[in-house]
Amino acid sequence: MDCFEIVGKNHLEGNIVVSGAKNAVLPIMAASILNNSPLKIKNVPTLSDSKTMAAILESMGSKVSFSNDDIINIDNSGLNIPFASYDLVRTMRASFYVLGPLLAKFKQAKVSLPGGCAWGPRPVDFHINAFEQLGVKIDLENGYVVADASNIKGGKIHFPKISVGATGNVLMLAVLADGVTVITNAAAEPEIQQLCQMLNNMGADISGVGTNTLTIKGVTSLKNLEEISIIPDRIEAGTFMIATAAVGGKVILENVNPLHLKEVTKQLTNVGITVIEKSNIIEVHSEGNNIKFSNIETNEYPGFPTDLQAQWMLLMCLANGDSTLKENIYFDRFTHILELNRLGCKISLEGSLAKIKGNRNLIGANVMSTDIRASAALIIAALCAEGKTSISRVYHIDRGYDKIEEKLTKLGAQIIRKK
Ligand code: UD1
Repeated sequence: MDCFEIVGKNHLEGNIVVSGAKNAVLPIMAASILNNSPLKIKNVPTLSDSKTMAAILESMGSKVSFSNDDIINIDNSGLNIPFASYDLVRTMRASFYVLGPLLAKFKQAKVSLPGGCAWGPRPVDFHINAFEQLGVKIDLENGYVVADASNIKGGKIHFPKISVGATGNVLMLAVLADGVTVITNAAAEPEIQQLCQMLNNMGADISGVGTNTLTIKGVTSLKNLEEISIIPDRIEAGTFMIATAAVGGKVILENVNPLHLKEVTKQLTNVGITVIEKSNIIEVHSEGNNIKFSNIETNEYPGFPTDLQAQWMLLMCLANGDSTLKENIYFDRFTHILELNRLGCKISLEGSLAKIKGNRNLIGANVMSTDIRASAALIIAALCAEGKTSISRVYHIDRGYDKIEEKLTKLGAQIIRKK
């Protein structure tokens, strides 16, 4: 199993190009099921999660090829097996995205219940309840969802809590359902906005894109799309922004959409970091000390993203006072706390509220990755720590960050991957 060895205390300086968004490419690859001719997807991040989605599509009869490092070509004209196996789906929760488009196309599908990150229960009840409200008949058989959408009809869906995955899944079914579907408490995340734009470009009729109410007028068929380019990864960009703030230095991030990072920019500015926004560039300047404490909470878009909670927590360990950080999306997304504390952080937990002691001096140690974003926090902590840190199980980071060690090395960090 690969690990990272990192020697801390080098300031970060230079430019990097942010990759395409993991959370956009996965639903868009699933939506390609609705496309019957070759689709070229550009600005695709090289991630094990995109390879997992490719393997799922291939297992159903799709032809998928990667070219130029950031292009995926998907030809779904031969996709004819509406089945996604446990072996493929269990490693990535986003695999469940295939259920909606499979049902829209074949009216029947069998998809394993998902696995994914190692924190807490992450159910799919919102997806299943919403499908049932649209008339899908669902049985659970040996860990599989067996679904029949022969009698679907548009309807009203209200999610008890905003869900990115359930919104995307329902959209991909409802575009071809008879009648109008209205989703309230829908996700407004930029990745869902891009999925809506893709479906509309294929002839779907979705309005309210970017708000929490989506209205989908069903159409009888969609047309084929030839090309799409994935939006920049706001979480990767936010991770590098926080890394620069924590370690110190001056980093220019290219291929970003500053509008998608407004809350992150606001919070970094509030704690004393200089962030300069240009059209598709963000510059971050930090001395790496003099960071102010903060009390923030995670929220759905446009709030502060849960996917940057672990990284922000680490930043607050270095702040000039004590901070709090409340997690509102996943009540138990805190596996990073024990590992960060091994490096000298002092974080305690009361329910979903983390209490973070500032002014910490971090010292290198052996730590373990537990999920994608927790791993990113550990890397940033290691870059700030005195001496050497070894981070094991970096396969977690390979799921969500494209060549992170190459990008950090380019900025002057000492990080090597050991096999
Ligand atoms: C997506 C992102 C993930 C991000 C998360 C929240 C992708 C591929 N992943 O995950 O990086 O952390 O949004 O921004 O886009 N819930 C239920 N039942 C359900 C579905 C969700 O209770 O059927 C709950 C979840 O446990 C969680 C909340 O709803 O508390 C939001 O989850 P959701 O937005 O669905 O997360 P994902 O789509 O899995």
